[in-house]
Amino acid sequence: MNTGHRTGYDAELQRHDQVLRRACDIRPHDHVLDIGCGTGHTTRQAARTAREGGALGVDVSAPAIERARELALGEGLRNVTFEHADAQAHRFPQERFDLAISRFGTMFFDDPVAAFANIERALRPAGRLVMMVWQSGERNEWDVAVRRSLAGPGGPAAVSTGPDPFSLADPPAVRRILDTAGYTGITFTDVHEPVCYGPDVTAALEWVRGFTCTGETLKRLNPAAAAGALERLREELSAHLSDDGVWFDSRAWLILPVAGAQRGLRRLR
Ligand SMILES: C[S@@+](CC[C@H](N)C(=O)[O-])C[C@H]1O[C@@H](n2cnc3c(N)ncnc32)[C@H](O)[C@@H]1O
Repeated sequence: MNTGHRTGYDAELQRHDQVLRRACDIRPHDHVLDIGCGTGHTTRQAARTAREGGALGVDVSAPAIERARELALGEGLRNVTFEHADAQAHRFPQERFDLAISRFGTMFFDDPVAAFANIERALRPAGRLVMMVWQSGERNEWDVAVRRSLAGPGGPAAVSTGPDPFSLADPPAVRRILDTAGYTGITFTDVHEPVCYGPDVTAALEWVRGFTCTGETLKRLNPAAAAGALERLREELSAHLSDDGVWFDSRAWLILPVAGAQRGLRRLR
């Protein structure tokens, strides 16, 4: 397995990236909207393919957008822009984009119906949304393993109070959200690819320590208990080390709805 990027989110998701890229099937003239683009890996990738069109990445994190701009500038990409914006409420140009994409950036909306309806209005009639989201925590070995290590034998479960990365894990619930938001032709594909946490145990431990759930749990523990949790985490990561890095099994959904179910109605209003 070629590890490509060595650590960080792009390294973690390198296998998912290939699946997402194939599903996006971006054409040279496409205008692409990247939702929750982070530091813009998928936005830049889209812009390179949509060479006669372009890509806009939006994210609520100002530092992520700043970094995304730096990276795009460093690559000399002229057809990519980034906006610091909440995709749920941002006034996108209407019916502007052929395609909206998202690599794990759509699970954190306060009001998912409002957010997906807002994105739908930005899509051309029959424009596609291609998004990848996590299946449930229990189906993701990485989540089970990290939480089990942090909790330890008989310890309280490691819970996180932050945004829920598994909020779009249930297909019937997601179908209802997207249907209400105006999409049609909604399909779910099971993506069964591993995540990479780093080339070695030290790098992987550093990466996993950055997870919200890890940080919050360690903060709640006294120093001795926190040291024990970190040691268990290190052992768990060591057990998943292979010749090409620390890998965990994972399950995601690739969800592809199409915009426009209510377009005709909207124009008549
Ligand atoms: C798990 S990260 C994924 C980042 C990026 N898609 C990638 O693959 O590198 C989720 C991103 O969604 C962003 N996000 C969360 N809620 C958002 C919202 N309402 N509007 C725009 N971005 C949002 C976060 O700031 C974060 O950068």
